[in-house]
Amino acid sequence: MEKLVIQGGMRLSGSVTISGAKNAAVAIIAASILVDGVCKIENIPDIKDVFTIVNIIQNLGAKVTYISEGIIEIDSKNICSHRADYDQVKKMRASYYLLGALLGRFKCACVAMPGGCDFGARPIDQHIKGFEALGATVNLQHGLIEVVAPELRAGHVYLDTVSVGATINIMLAAVFAKGTTIIENSAKEPHIVDLANFLNAMGAKVKGAGTDIIRIIGVDHLKGGCYSIIPDQIEAGTFMIAAAAVGDDVLIKNVIPKHMDSLTAKLIEIGAQIEELDDAIRVKNIGNLKSTNIKTMPYPGFPTDLQPQMVALLSASRGVSVVTEGVWDNRFQYADELKRMGAKIHVDGRTAVIEGVSALWGAPVRATDLRAGAGMIIAALMADGETEITELKHIDRGYVSIENKLCMLGAKIERVDE
Ligand code: EPU
Repeated sequence: MEKLVIQGGMRLSGSVTISGAKNAAVAIIAASILVDGVCKIENIPDIKDVFTIVNIIQNLGAKVTYISEGIIEIDSKNICSHRADYDQVKKMRASYYLLGALLGRFKCACVAMPGGCDFGARPIDQHIKGFEALGATVNLQHGLIEVVAPELRAGHVYLDTVSVGATINIMLAAVFAKGTTIIENSAKEPHIVDLANFLNAMGAKVKGAGTDIIRIIGVDHLKGGCYSIIPDQIEAGTFMIAAAAVGDDVLIKNVIPKHMDSLTAKLIEIGAQIEELDDAIRVKNIGNLKSTNIKTMPYPGFPTDLQPQMVALLSASRGVSVVTEGVWDNRFQYADELKRMGAKIHVDGRTAVIEGVSALWGAPVRATDLRAGAGMIIAALMADGETEITELKHIDRGYVSIENKLCMLGAKIERVDE
């Protein structure tokens, strides 16, 4: 069993480069199923979720070539199967993008109910509503989702809840649907825009991505091409929070500062010093951080995927903070782990009240999910003494060698295999 052993109290300084966005990469790799030709994709992050989706499309028949670090070529010409079973898809949530992509290509898809982080109920009713609006019939049985459409025709979908996954799945399924598909109340996350840009670069006609109405004008086919994935908003945010916690002067490079606006505003509010550059952000801890209130929301609101990291920071900031989770039902499971480090957190449903303590202390803790694991790392960097973090499989799904990047900035972290 691997664990991270972190010595707290080290200050961070220097520069770190952010990798390509996980949530864009997994959608774009699935979207390559729709492309008739070779796609060269750059800035691919070297993380487990990418290996998993690459492995799944290879099993379906795609040819994937690793060109060099962060660059792959995908040729989906020989994909002949429209079925992905549970043993393939159980490791990650985003494997449900196969439904939209395979439906778009073959007019049928059969994919097992996917796995991923456990935040309570993760329904897919909005994905189903979208597929049905395009003329498909959806059957759920024996843990499989089967979607079949004799013919894909454009549809008009108003999402009942803003869903990243449903927006992406409907976009994928609609690329070849005859006419203009309209998605209203669509998600606006940076990776939605990145997927639309990828599809458009391959010949699709997707308009309005990044607003709450997306229009997809059906085309006959997508050609190959080259595309570079955007920087990871959540990795960038994680490093910004780490730097706000213990950074003397940290330059975070390969960032789109606009994507970070909600976090930047909060960090300034609690007392961190932030300087925005063209494609980088400089963050300094100048001491005396104070409490704040946060509610997570779909983009451009404060991202739920930065909530645990921010709660870790607020646990050692002066005053009482109230953090409300506005996206997931059960995203405070990690609070008990932070309490082992001396944090004072009271969770009631979707709200956590955090009473800042003067210091956290090192303790053995678990990464209960991907971003909770990042939160534990930030807490460990601030704590007095040594922290051991186990269940690294979650962290490795979504961060490119996070401990090496932090060590380059001056942290003391070792990965130990017991
Ligand atoms: N929802 C429904 N019905 C649906 C779909 C979603 O009610 O059919 C609800 C969910 O239960 C949730 C809300 O809508 O309450 C938002 O869910 P969404 O579909 O937006 O989430 P997702 O697509 O499953 C993606 C990210 C998550 C991130 C959320 C919210 C990927 C691969 N995953 O999940 O990222 O938390 O959006 O921003 O893009 C992570 O990277 O650590 C991660 C968990």
